[in-house]
Amino acid sequence: MITTTYDEPTTINERLVTLGNVRLSEIVSAMSVALDITEGQLPGHAARSCLIGMRIAQELQLCDEDRSALFYALLLKDLGCSSNAAKMCWLFGADDRLIKRDLKTINWTKAAECFKFSWKRVANSGSTLQKVLQMAVMAREGEKGARQLVQTRCERGADIVRMLNLPESTALAVRNLDEHYNGKGHPDGLKADEIPLLARIACLAQTVEVFLTTYGLVDALEVARARRGQWFDPQLVDALLAAGLDSTFWESVQRPDFRSEVDKWEPRDRLMIADEAAIDRIATAFAKVVDAKSPWTHRHSEGVAKIARGIAAELGFSQDQQHDIWRAGLLHDVGKLGVSNLILDKPGRPTDDEFVAIKQHPDFSFQILGQIDSFRHLSEIAASHHERLDGRGYFRGTAEENLPLEARLLAVADVCEALTAKRPYRDELPPEKVAEIMSRDLGSGLCPVSYEALQSWQDKTSVATRVESQLNEIDRLLSEM
Ligand SMILES: [Fe+2]
Ligand SMILES: [Fe+2]
Repeated sequence: MITTTYDEPTTINERLVTLGNVRLSEIVSAMSVALDITEGQLPGHAARSCLIGMRIAQELQLCDEDRSALFYALLLKDLGCSSNAAKMCWLFGADDRLIKRDLKTINWTKAAECFKFSWKRVANSGSTLQKVLQMAVMAREGEKGARQLVQTRCERGADIVRMLNLPESTALAVRNLDEHYNGKGHPDGLKADEIPLLARIACLAQTVEVFLTTYGLVDALEVARARRGQWFDPQLVDALLAAGLDSTFWESVQRPDFRSEVDKWEPRDRLMIADEAAIDRIATAFAKVVDAKSPWTHRHSEGVAKIARGIAAELGFSQDQQHDIWRAGLLHDVGKLGVSNLILDKPGRPTDDEFVAIKQHPDFSFQILGQIDSFRHLSEIAASHHERLDGRGYFRGTAEENLPLEARLLAVADVCEALTAKRPYRDELPPEKVAEIMSRDLGSGLCPVSYEALQSWQDKTSVATRVESQLNEIDRLLSEM
């Protein structure tokens, strides 16, 4: 049996890290918690799956290149998770996070088990009639609908991996995460070696993690054994079972400081460094994950980031500060991934309990971003976007004197974008109506200085847009002469 050993730093990248450069894994492992909460999993699910998958790879003696690609595939395997949350919620008429969590503990390829699971959970607070109607909705979607749900998630996840400039083998592992060894998985029903090896490892690792945290190590190894040759590649199950004897390893998987454990498993001569461009890509990628959670917010984070940077420029912030504010805009709602689509997509006023759940999302953003050195200084600004000058905002009720200008301008950008977008309970509002609503809240809720800067920026951008469209029209006319 191979045992886990860690050497002193010797590689070029390790020396770069000792010189104060940021490791990509440090940011990615912390941000993966946002994906965990979207999936209804305990924080650390992706990180623990990473440890388990890397331990299997060690047993198989995979080369460094493959282990590096696998490492990031395991941490980012759920990047597409938000893209099917709204549909999942609609199909089951229930909390998408609970459905996603519980689906990982059953064998959904068995019709009887799947029916029992669905009947218990559809419209779970409704009457028998509502449950029957909801089952009819699911039956109409059928096998094709289930396949599409997985396909959307996998393709979206792989696209975002490519956006992060990670290896194609990482993207393919995410793309084929839910394929099963016997060909009964989704979305393409690939069989055995048709499924990329890294995807086979990730599929096994994530299931073992769920059973480990839910039922313990004995049951986790048992589910792998029971599904050997069905869901899982027999060779990988054998490697896992061999690693099952490594008690030091399994203790490390269950430690609360999972992030420091993850760092140890990135191949040492392939440590990835996060430069400024890589950090921007991560912020943009997670903005896309957040915006995909609900059809009503599909461009919200990117829109808020753009408006916030525009206001910051008007207010004379430096280029570096504008850049930081743009990143805070991209990531401000990352905590929304922990809120059910039952609430986010509700076509009406939330109940008191639902509002309590909504109010948690800036706190989640604060906690997630606060874990990352590169984002820590942004976490306070990002998490204050629902605070009001009069102290009646959330999640902390911070009043004007304690809200930095960056936080106040982000709140203005957030309201402006939200009012101009369509919502489940209303159409998008015209600019005059947006101005009227925002003006009413100046001084008590919204910062007047930031609002004035917003108007100035909007005037300039609308002139620039008009000039650009006129130039395009002139170009078109000239090309037709
Ligand atoms: Fe928000
Ligand atoms: Fe927002």
